[in-house]
Order: sequence, then C-alpha cells, then structure tokens
Amino acid sequence: MPHPFVRAFPRASTWILVTLATARLIPALIRLLWPWRRELTVVIGLLALWHLLDALPWTWLALSLYLALLAGIAAWTPARRWLLWWLRCGRTRRALIAGLAQSRSANLDGQLPRITSTRPTPVGERITLRLRPGQSYELLDARIDQLRAAVHAADVRLNLDRTRTNRLTVDVVRRDPLAATGPIPWADDDADVLSIWQPVHFGVSELGVPVRLSLPERAVLLAGNRGAGKSSGMTVFVAHAAKSPDAELLLIDANRVQLAPWAARARAFAAHDPDDAVGVVELARAELDRRLDLLVSLPGIPLGLTPELGAAHHLPLWLLFVDELAYHCSVAGTKTQQNHFYATLRDVVARGRAAGIVVIAATQRPTHDLIPTSLRDLFDIRIAYRTMTRASSDVILGDDMANRGYNATDIDLAARGVNWLLAENRDPIRTKTVWIPAESRADLAVTTVRHRPGPSAIPVTRRPIDDPEVTP
Ligand SMILES: Nc1ncnc2c1ncn2[C@@H]1O[C@H](COP(=O)(O)OP(=O)(O)OP(=O)(O)O)[C@@H](O)[C@H]1O
Ligand SMILES: [Mg+2]
Repeated sequence: MPHPFVRAFPRASTWILVTLATARLIPALIRLLWPWRRELTVVIGLLALWHLLDALPWTWLALSLYLALLAGIAAWTPARRWLLWWLRCGRTRRALIAGLAQSRSANLDGQLPRITSTRPTPVGERITLRLRPGQSYELLDARIDQLRAAVHAADVRLNLDRTRTNRLTVDVVRRDPLAATGPIPWADDDADVLSIWQPVHFGVSELGVPVRLSLPERAVLLAGNRGAGKSSGMTVFVAHAAKSPDAELLLIDANRVQLAPWAARARAFAAHDPDDAVGVVELARAELDRRLDLLVSLPGIPLGLTPELGAAHHLPLWLLFVDELAYHCSVAGTKTQQNHFYATLRDVVARGRAAGIVVIAATQRPTHDLIPTSLRDLFDIRIAYRTMTRASSDVILGDDMANRGYNATDIDLAARGVNWLLAENRDPIRTKTVWIPAESRADLAVTTVRHRPGPSAIPVTRRPIDDPEVTP
C-alpha cells in the first residue's frame, strides 16, 4: 500500500525519490572511480581534444592534427616520462590500498591509512601515509610481505618519521639504479689538502644523492663477501685521511696490497705478522691513554677532542685501519696473541671516541663469534656489502634488518661497491662507494707523504706476548 504522501502527491514524491537515489548514487560512483581518476583524466583529455578538433571543416585535417599532437607528446621525452610516471604512481597507489585492505590494516572504524602523496623515485615510487587512530608503524611492518606482493615490487621499505609517528613513507623498490651505475668518481680528487674534520665523500645513494660521512667520534665497520668492495671502500677513508695534515694513519693489512702503498704516509704499518699487528693496536691504546690523561689535566676537562683542541695541543686524529679483521683475531698467531689483539682493539674502539682515535675495520666474516653484538654496537657506522646469508647481513646491520628490507643478500653479485650503509642511527640507505682507480691511489700514496706528521715509524715490531690471561 503506497504511503499516503505518495498517493496525495504522486509527482512530487517521484521527484523526491529520484533526487534521493541520485544523491546516493553520485558519491558511490565517485568513490568507485576516484582511484582511477588519473586514467579517466587522460581519457577525458583525449575526448576533449577530439571534440575541439572536430570543429574543423575537414575530418582528415582534424584526424591528422590529433595524431600529430599525440605523436608529439609520445616523442617528447620529458612529457612522455612525466605522463607514464604519473599513471604509474596512480597504479601503485591503488595496489597499495588493495594490499592494505586485504592484509587487514584498517582500524576498528574500517578506515585505511590515508595516502597523502605519491611520487616517483629513481628506485620506484615513494608513498606518504598518514596513520589513523588504532594504526601504527609496527602494524604495517608486520604486513610488509603482503604489501610487497600487492604492489608487485622487488621490495617495500617503511620509514617512520620519528618526530611524528603517525606519518610514514613507503618506498616501493622496483629496480636497483646503483647496479647499473658506472664507477663513482671521488669528489675530493682535485683537492690538494683536506681536513679529517670534514666529512668524507663516501659514495652516492640510490636516490642519486652524494653521501658524506663524518669520521670524528665514530667507528666504522665494513663487512661482506670476498671481492664485494670492502677494501675499496676503506681506501676512500684512507685517501681522505692521507690528504689531511690533521690525521695520522695506523694500518694493519694482512693482504698488504690494499694498504701497504700508504705505509710511508702512515705512523705505523703491520702486515701478516701477529706481533706487528698487536704492536700497532697497542700503539693506538698507549696514545689513547696519553690523550685521556691530557684531557683530564686540561682546564674544564673537555669531554672530547675538538678541531681547536687538536690544533692547540698538536693532537691529530688517529685513524686505525684494520683490513681483514678475522686474520689477526682468529687465523694468525697463537690463541693468546689473537685474544690480546682482539681485546686491545676492542678497548680502542670502545674508549677511542673522546681521545680522537677512530677505528675503521673490514671483515669478510660477519659472524657472531667474530663480531658479537656487544662489539658490533660500538661501531656507529656499519657498511654491509653483499653477504651470502641474511644472518650475516643482520650481524652487520642489526637484528631483524633483513626482514625489514635492509638485506645485503639482495645486492647483485656483479654490483661491486654497492652496500647498505647504516649511520647516524637512521634506517640503512643503499649506496655505492666511490671508486679510486689504482693509478690515482698510487699517485696519492706518494704525493700525500708530505702530510705525514712526525718521524716515520714503520713497521712497528714489538716483543712477543707472554700474557696468557687476556681473553676477548
Ligand atoms: N666502488 C666500486 N666501484 C667499482 N668497482 C668496485 C668498487 N669496489 C670494488 N670494486 C671492484 O671489486 C673488486 C674487489 O674489490 P675489493 O678488493 O675492495 O673487495 P674486498 O671486499 O676487499 O675483497 P676481499 O674480501 O677479497 O678483500 C675491485 O678490484 C674492483 O674491481
Ligand atoms: Mg679486501
């Protein structure tokens, strides 16, 4: 039985019903088409263009102009690239929303995180999310596998804005631009003199940004497979330090080929002899104690070495380079020598910050026995070159990093010099190390000898160790 109002006003009630239905339909239609707005804009643009040209008297002329305009856009690289990027960002956005919905990331009100922007990056796309009440970074982090598959990408990385924890960026990784990048030239190659207090040009990030690392108060660990690029990475630090009159070098290199050429610039050099190696680390420790005594005796007891203090008291920064850490810790010499080497080195890493002694160590063997967490965490800058296992990658970068997408096994075997760099307590970034060719290295090793402060003391030799008490 129709409502009395309908019976009384049939025409008006029909209009009201139609208006209400339309008012409901339109938002539903907009919601349905909204994710496809970019594609729809392109279609509407094409139709509008055709409509405009249709006003021309000859159809053949309109058609030719139409096709010429389309061909022009396709041939003009910036316009074509921009259009493809724009459409691709829209596609990724839809895929991410679907992934979030299907992995049950909505809050109790059924709302998904809000996408505030999507933009292309050299590795894929970057999407900025605003979380709703009830959602968290950890919630999405637990769904990373589903999200990775939903956006059809090689990887997905979540980065939290630590100052506003409801904001996070999702980096969709589709390609590795560093793998295809040629050798990265060293920006400071032309500089005649540098300072060790200036950041070292270490490489380039996958977003194409130069990466500079500051060495004072830091300790650096480079690790990865054989031939992955550790020694070449270490050479960049050596080259910068060698050009810096305010730096002294102490070198330990069992292989000799990498660091031996710099021996004349160094205060001390040790190769495969365990006593020599222990001599170098003991030299560093003796200097460390001397400097700490000096700092304590100064007015106001400064908390650490500064460029001003260094200049006033003739205290250059000391850089202790150890290439192939495992050799002197677990291969060469007796167990006592190994333990003594390890314990002394560890002490220098732990206490060297205030005294201006920086340890830069490299190893092929990133395992828990060689680098226990307690030692690893003393290194503020950790560089993971390609590793064979996720466990090795985590030994360098930190627990669970591989699960979060920072995984050194995903570095291509042929991509030498590519690494995951963890510095300044931020999430790791993917970089490629600067490449200093052999000829430049040889030249630098000779021309920088003039910066060597004090008399030469190479190689260091010492009495054999007779203290069996020391344990790592
Ligand atoms: N940044 C780079 N750019 C281009 N090529 C590189 C780079 N780093 C390393 N390579 C190439 O990889 C080779 C091996 O590098 P490197 O000797 O540094 O590796 P490694 O990790 O120290 O190896 P090992 O563990 O055997 O000592 C170099 O000779 C060079 O050809
Ligand atoms: Mg090496």
